[in-house]
Amino acid sequence: MFWKRKRADKMNPIIKADNVAYPTLQVPDLDLQEKFLIHFGMHRVERTEDTLYMRGDGPQPFIHKTVLGEQKFVASAFSALSIDDLKKLSKTESFGDVEELTSPGGGYRVFGLDPDGIGVEVVHGIQDRAMDGDLDPVEVNIGGVRDETFRRFNQIKRFQKGAYPRIKRYGHYGLNSNDIPGALEWYHAHLGIIASDILKPPPADETAPIMGIFARLDRGEKPADHHCIFWLPAGMQSGGKTGLNHVSYEMVNLDDVFMGHEILEKKGYELEWGVGRHYQGSQIFDYWRSPFMQTHEHQIDGDVFDNTVPPQIVNVTEDGNPEDPEAGPSQWGPPINFQTFGDERGL
Ligand SMILES: [Fe+2]
Repeated sequence: MFWKRKRADKMNPIIKADNVAYPTLQVPDLDLQEKFLIHFGMHRVERTEDTLYMRGDGPQPFIHKTVLGEQKFVASAFSALSIDDLKKLSKTESFGDVEELTSPGGGYRVFGLDPDGIGVEVVHGIQDRAMDGDLDPVEVNIGGVRDETFRRFNQIKRFQKGAYPRIKRYGHYGLNSNDIPGALEWYHAHLGIIASDILKPPPADETAPIMGIFARLDRGEKPADHHCIFWLPAGMQSGGKTGLNHVSYEMVNLDDVFMGHEILEKKGYELEWGVGRHYQGSQIFDYWRSPFMQTHEHQIDGDVFDNTVPPQIVNVTEDGNPEDPEAGPSQWGPPINFQTFGDERGL
């Protein structure tokens, strides 16, 4: 019997995704990719002839997947709260059938394509790995003004000189899109994604075009990162070609951002932008190019919102210091390089 697949409803999402899980990149040389990812702070979990799985220091069994082939961004994965959610998505015209995962940690997935032709996986049931203890057992003495507020007392803090930075989790990804409002609508209708910041040029009213959207998971009362996904215009960034802008990883601690910067610089990788602090999302950030020019970000200390915070319209020229305007500002740190950020090399 022919079973007609459902169209997603604009107002009522099919499901509300609960988290991001991992991106899948495709590159022509897995040796080179693995070497970079180790320097970036990851550890090999499994490697076959054509697939590489890497993890961070957090509980997820892997947070980065690479397949062998011509360079491209294959997909990013969101996690769902139940297997029923995967079944609901599989009944829409955008996603395929529920499949069993053969990757570390097992589980199930559905796979679909967004309006820009970018892959979207939604997964459920991936088992966490056993952890060896706290991610960062030594406390930070930041904040507080009185003696009683010191969290590290009679204890010293040491990092091994030249150690690789520690990654807690996959945090978000950025895409270059040819229809940003259409992309948000699709991710909202299928996964419940909601806008946090909508970037516009002056006068930043209804007539002004959208220059970018930062969007987050709707986790109800639970905190969600300011953005799990964001879009910039492919026409402006990458000659109209859609694809990856960057993938982003949340670090264990502040030291890891700066240790990462030092080691990636020493190893001779190309710095894209950093270290600095963002406006939208407020993270301390540091962006590096892989050997294939796909941008990977280290970041920490971002904003988290529940689903009550309404979307903000951001006038892109009004961030920062009006006395000293700069395009693509950081709260501190260097400005963005619009000639290279999200360019065609990194798709
Ligand atoms: Fe980012």
